[in-house]
Amino acid sequence: MPKFMHPLRVINKQYEADIKLMFEVVDEVIAHRKTHPLTGSRDLLSLMLEGKDFMTGRGLSDTNIRYQLLTFLAAGHETTSGLLSFALYHLLSNPQAYAALQKEVDTVLSDNPLTVDHLSKLPYTNAVLRETLRLNSPALGMVVTSFNHTELLCGEYEVRKGWPLLLDFYGLHRDPAVWGDDAESFRPERMLDDKINTLPPNSWKPFGNGARGCIGRALALQESVMMLATLFQRFEIRFDDPSYRLQLKETITTKPTGFKIHAIPRAGKKVFGAANGYMSPGVLGETLQKVGHTAPGKGAPLLVLFGTDSGTCERFAEQIASDAVIHGFNPKIGAMDSVEDVANLPRDAPVIILTSSREGQPPENAVRFVQALKEMTATTKPLQGVKYAVFGAGNHDWVRSFYRIPKLVDSRMEELGAERLIPRGEGDAGGANVYNSFDAWEKALWSAVSKDLNDAAPEAASELDIEDDLIVAVVGATRDILLRQPDLTEGKCVENRVLTASDQPVKRHIEFQLPLGMEYQTGDYLAVLPLNSPESVHRVLAHFNVLGETKIVITSRAPTTLPTNEPVSLQDLFSGYVELAQPMSQRNLDEVMRYAPVDGPERQALDKLVANPKTDVFDKHLSVLDLLEQHPSVKIPLAQFIKLLPSMRIRRYSISSSSLWKKANCTLTFSVIRGSSTAGKRDFLGVASNYLANLMPGERNLPGCPRASRKTSLMPFSSGVVHNALHSLRTECI
Ligand SMILES: Cc1cc2nc3c(=O)[nH]c(=O)nc-3n(C[C@H](O)[C@H](O)[C@H](O)COP(=O)(O)OP(=O)(O)OC[C@H]3O[C@@H](n4cnc5c(N)ncnc54)[C@H](O)[C@@H]3O)c2cc1C
Ligand code: HEM
Ligand SMILES: Cc1cc2nc3c(=O)[nH]c(=O)nc-3n(C[C@H](O)[C@H](O)[C@H](O)COP(=O)(O)O)c2cc1C
Repeated sequence: MPKFMHPLRVINKQYEADIKLMFEVVDEVIAHRKTHPLTGSRDLLSLMLEGKDFMTGRGLSDTNIRYQLLTFLAAGHETTSGLLSFALYHLLSNPQAYAALQKEVDTVLSDNPLTVDHLSKLPYTNAVLRETLRLNSPALGMVVTSFNHTELLCGEYEVRKGWPLLLDFYGLHRDPAVWGDDAESFRPERMLDDKINTLPPNSWKPFGNGARGCIGRALALQESVMMLATLFQRFEIRFDDPSYRLQLKETITTKPTGFKIHAIPRAGKKVFGAANGYMSPGVLGETLQKVGHTAPGKGAPLLVLFGTDSGTCERFAEQIASDAVIHGFNPKIGAMDSVEDVANLPRDAPVIILTSSREGQPPENAVRFVQALKEMTATTKPLQGVKYAVFGAGNHDWVRSFYRIPKLVDSRMEELGAERLIPRGEGDAGGANVYNSFDAWEKALWSAVSKDLNDAAPEAASELDIEDDLIVAVVGATRDILLRQPDLTEGKCVENRVLTASDQPVKRHIEFQLPLGMEYQTGDYLAVLPLNSPESVHRVLAHFNVLGETKIVITSRAPTTLPTNEPVSLQDLFSGYVELAQPMSQRNLDEVMRYAPVDGPERQALDKLVANPKTDVFDKHLSVLDLLEQHPSVKIPLAQFIKLLPSMRIRRYSISSSSLWKKANCTLTFSVIRGSSTAGKRDFLGVASNYLANLMPGERNLPGCPRASRKTSLMPFSSGVVHNALHSLRTECI
């Protein structure tokens, strides 16, 4: 062999080794099944092993079965999984198609398991798949060979006998002469049964042609319809990274690359197939579950929608929903993207929207809602009759996109015909106390909605009801802890060390082993759901003079993120569910003062503090706990205290390692926030940074689980440098 062809020998060797490996794996599967036959329902492998030709009485040989399995793997699996990935991408990018598919699935399937009878009743689902195959066929094209010397396109091209011709599906399926000016758009309607039959012959060929066309066409379409319908029946799908734009990976087939989604259990839907038959919906799922869930109160309906990345707006939404009960409303609460059809927003209930922005884009659970608002035609006033109010959280550091999404939602709703109840509220997380801004706006909101709906005379809750809307009963039952965080997955601490000298503010390096199958890209961040430090929890228990072991049962008439209706120990509650050090707001202060002594020196001290809240409370970042410790005469009941605490939120950390270093391990570099408190004599402890600082190597950090999350533009300098260095190293090696 000439020297220049030596690399081919290497490539061939690899090729042969790969084939050998595939044969070995498949043969092992066959051998295992033979010794462990399935009982009950049988799969395709069992059918091939046990089936006999009724004429000859002969079955398939093991070698034949080996090749059949490889066909399923190569021709069947790659293509169909590619089709489903493309379909999900197009559905997420086209909210109207998403909503139409959802509607069809809900109408046809409702809560029933899918059966063969349903398959013919899902025309839109079928059309979605056909339209996906038009725009992004997993097979790039096919080769045909000419039998004769001939000419094509009225003599424009000469074709000799035996010449192979590549039919390019991409060009064929986007030809404006066939598909019109919107050939590039995803529009399943054009692929409904009556439309597809009127297409010119040979204009849609994702499964190839003639006798050698795809043998698995019917199977592929059937399993894809089943998969899509089942998925939409049970899950809410959303982009991991809403700014993701389709990028293709081409091997034998083509499929999206870097495309990640979240599948969140839908409101009240069982997630069949989980180990125990039901998968806990978790924080986000639970929140979505609340849409359609009516708090068992009386009163006029009210819809509260939030768009949030790190939980601030969700917390505001919870507060509104909680207060709604007091104001005589019957609230429903959910993420903005849990609204199936934005045009059908309720006309009989005020719609309260709380949203932030992320790099000028909608937060991850408001993408489809905002997209739908953008796409609606203003001239027809499709939101006429909707009454709404918008509050936006933002940060002035994002100069160009400060409050961009709340502004957009607010103005667009008006353009589309909805009636604004009060001017948009704003809370700057980078400025003065965002919670106070929200509280002030909320006050205005209640007076506006109550006035507006006075005619409906909502039945106001009595003072007794107000006191009772969070009931705490002490019980002594089991240690069950309800931690509903499915979107986060468990990681393992591998290494945790200090980087700084003993006289310097502490910075640490921590390495995590990510859960199996989870990978990250350089520049991603990790979300950490922390636990409060034992010291902070101890402070609360000591103040209220209760044992951490004590179990309580919380029942709440308003939506809450607290664990309800089952025993939870105070230790678990204060460790994992609530923020203990959150600076208090004016509203918190007003509430605490209800329990202040009516007179005496303590009262005078408190009055002084209330008279100067900015300097004595807010600027000092005083938390409710700080204030109670400083003024023990304030006898707030435990239930009221719990009610004042915001729910525990995740913190983000930029990953400081490069994915080229290790795909399944990542590192964080973080500052441990611990310092003399501006509020008093105790040290201030940052929740997540101290939680991370105390993780031991080998420790799995449930319930504080890190997760690789979507990419942020704040790629830390270190990871960028490491990544580039490793990249150039690799390039040099190659
Ligand atoms: C995209 C992104 C990437 C990030 N990457 C990193 C990273 O790589 N490394 C890193 O270290 N951090 C990073 N952060 C910050 C990180 O998420 C946390 O905010 C930080 O670790 C503090 O969290 P904590 O829970 O320890 O503090 P918290 O409990 O949330 O407390 C912080 C708050 O306490 C206040 N405070 C501070 N000191 C005192 C005091 N003495 N008295 C009273 N109040 C006080 C502060 O004003 C602040 O509001 C990142 C943040 C984002 C959004
Ligand atoms: C969306 C899914 C699929 C697409 C887009 C697809 C596409 C194609 C295409 C374009 C061809 C070549 C046709 C030609 O050259 O004329 C082909 C052939 C083939 N496909 Fe598929 N396919 C899919 C699913 C499947 C499945 C599920 C199976 C089997 C389980 C399968 C098995 C085969 C086989 C065996 C051939 C070769 C047929 C022959 O040469 O006689 N395919 N497929
Ligand atoms: C990565 C990132 C991007 C942000 N982009 C914007 C922005 O474009 N405009 C803005 O006003 N605020 C921006 N902010 C600030 C947030 O909107 C603000 O922190 C808000 O309180 C978050 O609310 P949420 O927790 O409900 O998402 C950004 C914050 C982060 C961490």
